[in-house]
Amino acid sequence: MQVFITRRLPQPALDKILPECDAEVWQDELPPPRDVLLEKARDADGLLTLLTDKIDAALMDAAPRLRVVSNCAVGFDNIDVPAATQRGIVVGNTPGVLTETTADFAFALLLAAARRVVEGDRFTRAGRWKTWGLTVLLGQDVYGATLGLIGLGRIGAAMARRARGFEMRVLYYDPVRREDLENALGLTYADLDTVLRESDFVSIHTPLTPATRHLINAATLAKMKRTAILVNTARGPIVDQAALYAALRDGVIAGAALDVTDPEPIALNDPLLTLENCILAPHIASASIATRTKMAMMAADNLLAGLRGEIPPNCVNPEALRNRR
Ligand code: DGY
Repeated sequence: MQVFITRRLPQPALDKILPECDAEVWQDELPPPRDVLLEKARDADGLLTLLTDKIDAALMDAAPRLRVVSNCAVGFDNIDVPAATQRGIVVGNTPGVLTETTADFAFALLLAAARRVVEGDRFTRAGRWKTWGLTVLLGQDVYGATLGLIGLGRIGAAMARRARGFEMRVLYYDPVRREDLENALGLTYADLDTVLRESDFVSIHTPLTPATRHLINAATLAKMKRTAILVNTARGPIVDQAALYAALRDGVIAGAALDVTDPEPIALNDPLLTLENCILAPHIASASIATRTKMAMMAADNLLAGLRGEIPPNCVNPEALRNRR
């Protein structure tokens, strides 16, 4: 069995994979370029990928032996899953293990934006701290404020649990209503407009799909409070970045904290980089040593199961096995 692994993995995951198959690991920090990926996929039975690797129908057609794509991420919008299913290729992902780490970071961004932590650091380093002042870097209270969640999957629910400690009122919008969580966590279900209109903080926890692309745009931003802060740890293209820039510049909303952008990395001439009221992190919400190791171990298990012809323990398209040639 031949496998191509598109980036170096934590050693415990490699120790699992390497004895089982003939694996090549791409050593560069940057993703393999498209032509290299196509060439490596040509003879591969399995690919272990990151969210930076585009796995589309053309690549699958150039890889006649491919039976499993194991993505080391919970999101899998980099993979054309219907095309994989049609071709009998199972796709694995890594849900669950990154939930708490990602929610920690989303909450950290919320707090940092509300209390202007990053601006404060810049202010101090620039020698602008002259004295204690009553109106220096005034922020917004998180305690007792209203949090609006767009998406109530695992990470959205973990965010809601954190908000309870701050005695926040939590509204959520999700196509699937979760009355069990409403009762357990004291959440209120609302339509998207109500969540946008009534929340002091809006945090995005939905996958990127055709329905959620640019869900946050000029029209939806205009529905938010002028004092509101937007947090995005999901996927960059859920937010129309040009519209967000205009909204932050013009005071339509007060601030934003983004762990994800469109594109990634964000272009160095993107106007968002000029704004004081926008925090930009380099897609690190799940980046703890323990969590990244667990993700890689899970991806290894998914890969090996797929190579054995089994449904991976975390598989987004188990029905693909029925289409196997
Ligand atoms: C994912 O897993 O989809 C995150 O974006 C990175 O952990």
